[in-house]
Amino acid sequence: MTQEIKTEPEAIPVITIDGPGGVGKGTISALLAAKLGWHYLDSGALYRLTGLACVQNNIAFDATVQVANIAEDLQVEFLPTGGILLDGVDVEALIRTEIAGNNASKVAAIPEVREALFKRQKAFLQTPGLIADGRDMGTTIFPAASLKIFLIASADERAKRRYKQLIEKGNNVKLADLVVEIQERDERDINRSASPLVAAQDAKIIDTSTLSINEVFQKVERLYKRL
Ligand code: DC
Repeated sequence: MTQEIKTEPEAIPVITIDGPGGVGKGTISALLAAKLGWHYLDSGALYRLTGLACVQNNIAFDATVQVANIAEDLQVEFLPTGGILLDGVDVEALIRTEIAGNNASKVAAIPEVREALFKRQKAFLQTPGLIADGRDMGTTIFPAASLKIFLIASADERAKRRYKQLIEKGNNVKLADLVVEIQERDERDINRSASPLVAAQDAKIIDTSTLSINEVFQKVERLYKRL
């Protein structure tokens, strides 16, 4: 898919929040959506669900046509309470694991999969507005967004944050393994040909390495208020 396609401004306001894994996009996007009373698109969840559905249906990640069909036919429901149903079953916990993230990154590199999920993502754009969280929200899915944010933080810092979350949840993980996993995933997301992870030319870049969630949120809010 081409990048930076310039289109007419969206009739409904969109704020895109892109960046690498573990940078805090999800937290900031959910807070902003709640504060503004806007809809929220967690596009990463769609790739995670596609990866999970492939595993459940014994489809190899390199079987591009079948993987794209799975993406096209996903039966998904995002519950207002936060759960995600795949074929009527709550899979929220299943799709949030490191393996699910890695699988998502593999299926996300297939152009036909991105094509299959394009319309589904566009359909989230409803009044009064949308916060779209992902890797290519500002470049490919909503290139005419009112405000584009690109969050960054070093791989070490993102791994530390992820480590803390996982340990708090009672998981047994090693920080060094998480750093390697994060670097591998960045590498794949940045170097794929279809909609790679890159800041839109008109995105505001915020380095969150030394900032608290609250501080990042305040910066984003200030940018929004300037619109
Ligand atoms: O944001 P996340 O960790 O849930 O995303 C999981 C993977 O999905 C990520 O490594 C790359 C892919 N992804 C993508 O390619 N494009 C998006 N808009 C969102 C996620």
